[in-house]
Amino acid sequence: MTLDSPFTGRHVLISGGCGFIGSMLARKLVALGARVTLIDSLIPAYGGNLANIADIRDRVWLNISDVRDPYAMAQLIRDQDYLFNLAGQTSHIDSMTDPFTDLEINATAQLSILEAARKLNPRVRIVFASTRQLYGKPEYLPVDERHPIVPVDINGIHKFAGESYHLLYHKVHGIASCCLRLTNTYGPGMRVKDARQTFLGIWLKLILSGKSIKVFGDGKQLRDFNYVDDVVAALLFAATRDQAIGRVMNLGSDEVISLKDLAELIVSVNGAGSWELVPFPSDRKAIDIGDYYGNWSLARELLGWHPNVGLKEGLQRSLEYYRVHGASYWE
Ligand SMILES: NC(=O)c1ccc[n+]([C@@H]2O[C@H](COP(=O)([O-])OP(=O)(O)OC[C@H]3O[C@@H](n4cnc5c(N)ncnc54)[C@H](O)[C@@H]3O)[C@@H](O)[C@H]2O)c1
Repeated sequence: MTLDSPFTGRHVLISGGCGFIGSMLARKLVALGARVTLIDSLIPAYGGNLANIADIRDRVWLNISDVRDPYAMAQLIRDQDYLFNLAGQTSHIDSMTDPFTDLEINATAQLSILEAARKLNPRVRIVFASTRQLYGKPEYLPVDERHPIVPVDINGIHKFAGESYHLLYHKVHGIASCCLRLTNTYGPGMRVKDARQTFLGIWLKLILSGKSIKVFGDGKQLRDFNYVDDVVAALLFAATRDQAIGRVMNLGSDEVISLKDLAELIVSVNGAGSWELVPFPSDRKAIDIGDYYGNWSLARELLGWHPNVGLKEGLQRSLEYYRVHGASYWE
């Protein structure tokens, strides 16, 4: 997208704007000349980090508030042209130990955001960040959007509810929303202090701290990954392509890799380090989805999207980022 993009001079709200993907999206929108407001609760257990927006802090409006506050959300959404709805509780394990918080953030708050849009700003264009997690254990591969929805954890159920609200509000109330089902996304700004966002984050921290990467089980599980810049591009396309409205689309990559090969690749890109197989912790095994990779041809067809950054390059960029900025992310 160029500087005369549809976002130039437009009001854009990003929920979860201090998070990993939200902050990268904000940076891009600022460069495109948008008037960007970020909402983030900055709850320490989640991925929000002011270091993610340090370089654009004086070019965005930052509202530290919680999407569970319907009054705050109503005020924030009323004059916006676009809402990128990215705030979420992302930990699958936390969703199992504290299901009601996941319900409040990933479902109830989504409904109140849509109610605010319906009542105060029905012309706002909304893109919701959903997840491939809601498919559960794949019945076939690659998983397309027609695959049955059988979540293996509470997070998957609530993200599906959040997604369904967005589609319903389009169908019934005419709100121009659409949903992207993200696969594992990685890159600079991701949470690396633990595995709450994705296992890959803690792997990067381990390798950069000279520790061995722990791969659960036999390490043969297949996954696909998207570099964050590619996901940002998909979000921008989704907000501007009319054919995307009311649709749900997988993101994904053709570069499918087993977890042990991924660990090996990280070691080789880093130029040092090691990895080891460890037994699957029982709480993780219970919600593991086995092999997953997605069919993202609908996103290619409707958005003209395809991933550009290969895994090796993306890992190089990510490791480089944390070598320089790690101190703001380790603890
Ligand atoms: N990163 C991935 O691999 C991935 C995969 C699938 C789906 N997603 C979805 O993409 C979205 C963004 O994910 P991310 O990877 O950037 O994670 P992230 O944790 O970095 O970003 C989410 C942001 O939401 C904020 N947030 C959480 N609860 C909030 C609340 N109640 N009020 C206001 N802000 C709140 C967090 O502080 C955080 O900054 C999430 O909705 C997530 O479910 C991400």
